[in-house]
Amino acid sequence: MSDGDGELEARLVEQEEFEPSDEFVEQANVSDPDIYEEFEENWPDCWERAADLLDWDEEYETVLDDSNEPFYEWFSDGTLNASYNCVDRHVENGDKNRVAIKWEGEYGETRTYTYQDLYREVNEFAAALRDMGVEEDEVVTLYMPMVPELPIAMLACARIGAPHSVVFAGFSADALATRMNSANSDYLVTCDGYYRRGDALDHLEKANEGLEGVDHDVEATVVVNRLGDDGFGHELAENQHDWDDLMDEQRGERVDPVERDAEDMLFLMYTSGTTGEPKGVKHTTGGYLAYTAWTSHAVLDLKPEDTYWCSADIGWITGHSYIVYGPLALGTTTVMYEGTPDFPERDRLWDIVEKYAVDVFYTAPTAIRAFMKWGSKFPERRDLSSLRLLGTVGEPINPRAWKWYYKHIGSEECPVVDTWWQTETGGMMITTLPGVKNMKPGSAGPPLPGIDARIVDTEGEQIEPGRAGYLTVNKPWPGMLRTLYKNDERFINEYWAEYSDEDADEWVYFPEDGAKIDEDGYMTILGRVDDVINVSGHRLGTMEIESAIVGVEGVAEAAVVGGNHEVKGEAVYAYVITEDGYEGDDEMRGRIVEGVEDAIGPIARPEQVVFTPELPKTRSGKIMRRLLEEIANEEEIGDTTTLRNPEIVTDIQTKVQGD
Ligand code: PRX
Repeated sequence: MSDGDGELEARLVEQEEFEPSDEFVEQANVSDPDIYEEFEENWPDCWERAADLLDWDEEYETVLDDSNEPFYEWFSDGTLNASYNCVDRHVENGDKNRVAIKWEGEYGETRTYTYQDLYREVNEFAAALRDMGVEEDEVVTLYMPMVPELPIAMLACARIGAPHSVVFAGFSADALATRMNSANSDYLVTCDGYYRRGDALDHLEKANEGLEGVDHDVEATVVVNRLGDDGFGHELAENQHDWDDLMDEQRGERVDPVERDAEDMLFLMYTSGTTGEPKGVKHTTGGYLAYTAWTSHAVLDLKPEDTYWCSADIGWITGHSYIVYGPLALGTTTVMYEGTPDFPERDRLWDIVEKYAVDVFYTAPTAIRAFMKWGSKFPERRDLSSLRLLGTVGEPINPRAWKWYYKHIGSEECPVVDTWWQTETGGMMITTLPGVKNMKPGSAGPPLPGIDARIVDTEGEQIEPGRAGYLTVNKPWPGMLRTLYKNDERFINEYWAEYSDEDADEWVYFPEDGAKIDEDGYMTILGRVDDVINVSGHRLGTMEIESAIVGVEGVAEAAVVGGNHEVKGEAVYAYVITEDGYEGDDEMRGRIVEGVEDAIGPIARPEQVVFTPELPKTRSGKIMRRLLEEIANEEEIGDTTTLRNPEIVTDIQTKVQGD
């Protein structure tokens, strides 16, 4: 834990309260306040309510198996298939003509997939995967932008029991290779390119470069043709197949959904941690799907007849849980948009809300801060009256941004759910149930029913309301990660070591966030307390960025911290010591930025690169990141007496902030 309590205290804010309208409460999926008590009294059987939202091949008998903590198992003697639950059953239930996916390209072209269309394409692609040799339990990597073929490929993998590992399209070739190597993945589905602010981007070049870094034989690659005539003319290699050709070959094919054990892996998702190596978070079929369906029902209030839009990218957990699995399990219409919010104009998102009469909209605080900066005239141009509920996720939302969202997007009529969760939790954990609880801007809300989240001190003792402490989760839940891929030891060290008491058999999950609780049990998340920073809702490990910088010729040492940023929430500040003989100039700065983009992707691009002859270090040689953060944030500098080189602090401060 790098954060001192004093620093957490400084992030506390005053709170106001807003009530959901009677109209909303009357129609809400969940509106009975007793649900909290009911779940508590009935725990863990309360989770049957989530599992009941699914169709099981073999009904489970055991809700929770905790015989090998913290390797919890949920619904473990049941079997099911996620693709069947997200597609086939809606077709069978008479909803084949309901729209499953509404896709909008950056240039305004649209594609509509009914559940029948989705059924056909998922089957055909599942057949194609099988023909290529993909077997049950083999990891298929999907390195794709926001095209409909991405959810189709995910569901096709799920159909044949092959876990997918989606790599965000904005990640670099190196990041792709690292993830394919870690998962020992022999198959890749990718795309020729996509559009960003009017430009066609060459994605296949990056994918091919990534493939060169894969340390084992890759059996086959499938390439979606998104760009057509705007493409870059790459020839496909012998083991590379064009998506459309494969689909033509498989026309009319059907693949029976494979009966999966509830605890069988559904997918892997890599995320950043404290060390440089990304963590392969493992999610399973039964618990994850039940949990995302349940939270989509209870928190997002989704109904089959809704048009729902989550503006995240499927390359992140938010897109997995709340563009693909949760909404499709419930048979809702889910919207996918390829491009950016400001292309061709800053009203693009509102244009889409109006066009499709979106009922429920889910986005990130960083986007809301950008909308706020652009001004209310953009949403005012559009009819947003179809909206019923708004949500946010990914980082703390400041009350000003919350209120702007509530007023200018929701017309003060839509409840706003501020949902705290993580890649590891699979789904939402702390947020208001919109049909039950009042909202307090800046505070996510109480833990959801059945979730035992607490705010504790460094000893794990619960602390009084109003004080800053650390968030823990003291009981398991169905959507939780099961382990880190092929690394049980790291799973225990990263999440359970801090607060569990193994001798007493008390297992406590530590998400590495600071938080506080108020008298009503509402939790305000204060941000990460490890070396992870949150840039525009994207989680980046400072160590990953540092190792990319140290790999640049002429760099001796680097320290990366997050500095406050008006729109991004946090931005990357890099403090760099050069090797003898290298001058820290703009040329080198350029190479450092490029080095970070090559190793991770443009999202990790440093906002500032500060050259310094030394870094502030304690006598034991540990870099004092807290001081570097204070400098980046232009805050008052705290205690420097434990430093062996206190004089360097003013020196760096002058470089960053000027005299
Ligand atoms: O610090 C918390 C922050 O995002 C982290 C999880 O990042 P990731 O695994 O990438 O998942 C993001 C989308 C679920 C958390 O540890 N975070 C997420 N949601 C919130 C949040 N911080 C404050 N308020 C939130 N609503």
